[in-house]
This record gives sequence, C-alpha cells and structure tokens, in this order.
Amino acid sequence: MSKSAKLHFNGSEYDIPVVKGTENEIALDISNLRSQSGLITLDKGFKNTGSTKSAITFLNGEEGVLRYRGYSIENLSSKSNFLEVSYLLIYGELPTTEILDSFAKEISSHTLVHEDVKSILDGFPSRAHPMGVLSSLVSSLTAFYPKSLDPNRSAEEINGTIIRLIAKLPTLAAWSYKNRMRQPVMYPNNNLNYTGNFLHMMFGLPTSESQIDPIIAKALDKLLILHADHEQNCSASTVRIVGSSHASLYASVSAGIAALWGPLHGGANQAVIEMLEDIKDQGGDINKFINKAKDKKDPFRLMGFGHRVYKNFDPRAKIIKQAADDVLGQLGINDPVLDIAMKLEDVALNDDYFKSRGLYPNVDFYSGIIYRALGIPTDMFTVMFALGRLPGWIAQWKEMRENNEPIGRPRQVYVGNNHREYIDISKR
Ligand code: ACO
Repeated sequence: MSKSAKLHFNGSEYDIPVVKGTENEIALDISNLRSQSGLITLDKGFKNTGSTKSAITFLNGEEGVLRYRGYSIENLSSKSNFLEVSYLLIYGELPTTEILDSFAKEISSHTLVHEDVKSILDGFPSRAHPMGVLSSLVSSLTAFYPKSLDPNRSAEEINGTIIRLIAKLPTLAAWSYKNRMRQPVMYPNNNLNYTGNFLHMMFGLPTSESQIDPIIAKALDKLLILHADHEQNCSASTVRIVGSSHASLYASVSAGIAALWGPLHGGANQAVIEMLEDIKDQGGDINKFINKAKDKKDPFRLMGFGHRVYKNFDPRAKIIKQAADDVLGQLGINDPVLDIAMKLEDVALNDDYFKSRGLYPNVDFYSGIIYRALGIPTDMFTVMFALGRLPGWIAQWKEMRENNEPIGRPRQVYVGNNHREYIDISKR
C-alpha cells in the first residue's frame, strides 16, 4: 500500500501521509495540509473525519462489528458483567477475579455523595428533566472535590476521580429520579452489587443480594454493557473536546451527558417509546407514520432508526431485540408497544426509502421496551444510557489525556460579509 497520497492543486503537488489502523482502516493525515498548501478540509458533522487514533473500541459499520478492546460485544454482553466491562474499557485489559473484586470494593466504598448535594437537588423543580439534573450534579462534584479540577495531578489522584465518578453516578442518577417524583432520596446500600444498589436507590428494593431478581439484574447489566462505549460518537467526542482544554473529568462528563440528551443521540430511547405510544394512541396506523418519516416537508423522523456509522445493521440492536423478547417473556409482560415496534420494523425494513438509505433499527429502538418492563420511567431512559456510557466516556477522556492530545479546535470556511465600515446608529 502507498505510504502517501498525492494532492494536485493549483499546479502544485502535495504528499499526504497515509495512516493505517490495526484493522486495516486507512486514513489521510491532513494535519500539515494547511501549512503546506493553505487548504483546509470541510466535513460538516465530521462524517468523514477521524479526530484521533484510539485503541478503545473498534466498529465496522458495514459489517455490523463492535468490539471493546478487541472483545466482541456479543461475547461481552452474554458472558461478562458491567463492572468487568468498565474495567476493560478504562484500563485496557480484562481483570483477574482478584483485581475485579478490589475494583468493585473500591467503587462500593465511594457511593455516598456529600450531603450538600441534596440542597442542590432540592433547588430543582420536580418537572426538571433528570438528564439536566444529572449533568448539573456531575458538574457540581468539582465543588466537592476541588483537586479534581487539575487533570495534571498524579495518575493515582486521577484514578481516585475516576473511581468516585463510577461510584457516584448511580446515586446521582437515582436521586435525579427521586427529585422528579418528589420522593425522599434513598442512600446507597453498599452490600449490594452495582446494579442492585442502583435499583435499591430507585425503588427501595432490593435490600439484600438475595432479593435481586436475576432476570432484571441480567437485563440491566446487558443494556449497560451494550451502551458502554461507541468510539467517537457525539457525546464521546464532546467529552474528549471539553477535556482537551484541560477541563476536569467531572466537567467533561457533565458535558457528555448534555450531548447525549438530544433525541438524535441518546435521547432517542425516550423519543422511541413516546413515538410508539403515539402510534398506539392514534389507532396503530403504522403506514401513516412511515409516510410522515418519508415526507421531506415533515420534520418527523422514525426514532430509533438510522445510524451515522451502521448502514447494514446495528449489532447492539440485534442483541437488544432478543433481550426485549426474553425479558418480556420471562416477566410475563405483554406490552402492546412491542407489537407496534415489531410491525413498524417490518414495514420499514421492506420499504425502499429506508432500504436505499441504509436505515435500520439502532440500539435505542428496543432498549426502552426493556426499561419499561423493568419499571423505569420514560424520562429516565436516557439517564440509563448515561450510566452505561460512563466507562466509555472515562476511557476516552483518559486516553486523550494520556496521549497528550492538543486542544480540539476545528477550522471553518467563512461565508459571511467582507469587511464593512461601522455605520452610526442615527444613520441606519
Ligand atoms: N427517519 C427518516 N429518515 C431518516 C432517518 C429516520 N430516522 N434517519 C435518516 N433519515 C434519512 C435522512 O432524511 C436522509 O435522507 P436524504 O438522503 O433523502 O436527505 C438520509 O436518511 C441520511 O440521513 P442523515 O441525517 O444524513 O444521516 P446522519 O448520519 O447524519 O444521521 C441519525 C444519523 C442522526 C442517527 C439519523 O439517522 C436520525 O436522526 N435517526 C433518528 C434518531 C435516532 O434514532 N438516533 C439514535 C442514534 S443511535 C445513538 O446515538 C445511540
């Protein structure tokens, strides 16, 4: 393979180095293009731009492949658990039993948050969306741990910040729900495992390991694993770019939560259920919604359909669809929304509009159905996504810092006015 590509422009020739990844992905390294030729590249939405070299997650959108640190998502979601996957993503290797036990123990000893966080929580109206509350509370951790503001501290201190964040996010997430319900917050129970403790803080149960419903625990763990990382997506790129200014991990993750919130990203899981309920309430006319999604004059999109990188299928959606079927069957739930989802998927997959654009159900199409079955309210769905995505954000932030990456700062092609003389207000 050539080591460089040639660019011919305005009678000059420029060598552009070719970079190859471990899975044979190839890229043109244009870092020096502007200094050599005066040219920049234009790529709205970064559809064709690699922002970094990363060793965390590999995905092949054409073939529906997703691997964390080389391990397939199919293997991890059936054999591993969320804390083990978190360790893998953040530190690069699968832990031994001993290491995993000590990781879990360390996390369970940091689940409490400062009592003053409750006063911040009390300041939010109950109608506040839990994602906004969560983002604010994560940012507020900088006030309780001011040393975390400096990302250049020792690796040990940075690791302390990482552990605290993993430990406290379920507490803050459950408390954002309690605020919504105007119920008293539940304190963590450190005798429970990670997901058990979260369910305890949400619903009061379980209070002991034996009360954890294995079906619910397994489904929740699977969902968290499937959401744990997805390379340079909107929220991970946000975390990296905020962190690239040497903002703290808490501030960077708080920004990641905000980026995830939007319906085109993590907020899609809430939007999918709302859309399916809407279809049901309007008599179940699927074709009407399909036509709306195809109508270019109508802003409506089929939520949970389409993905920036998956144009054949989303491997996470395949696993989640099966899990939704299993969980509903095991819990004996008959959710009419699941029937609508399946019919909608069937119609869309056989429609030329969706086929020709490579639009398939994504991770969020079926996840909300499982969350509903687990008793999690609709506006907490994206918070559940944030809980799952946390290790990915941390891994992305840590890698960016360890690689000493420069501040993220894209360029632009300016298309505004040329220089104009100021006109006095009396003469306008
Ligand atoms: N419904 C109807 N049409 C769609 C949809 C959809 N869900 N998604 C894309 N299209 C159409 C677009 O209108 C466009 O059509 P055109 O070529 O005729 O103009 C074409 O498909 C390509 O769409 P883009 O918006 O250019 O694709 P992009 O890669 O920028 O967007 C995205 C990907 C944001 C996920 C988009 O498919 C979408 O909005 N989906 C619905 C929201 C959603 O489910 N988001 C969750 C994504 S998964 C995640 O973040 C966890």
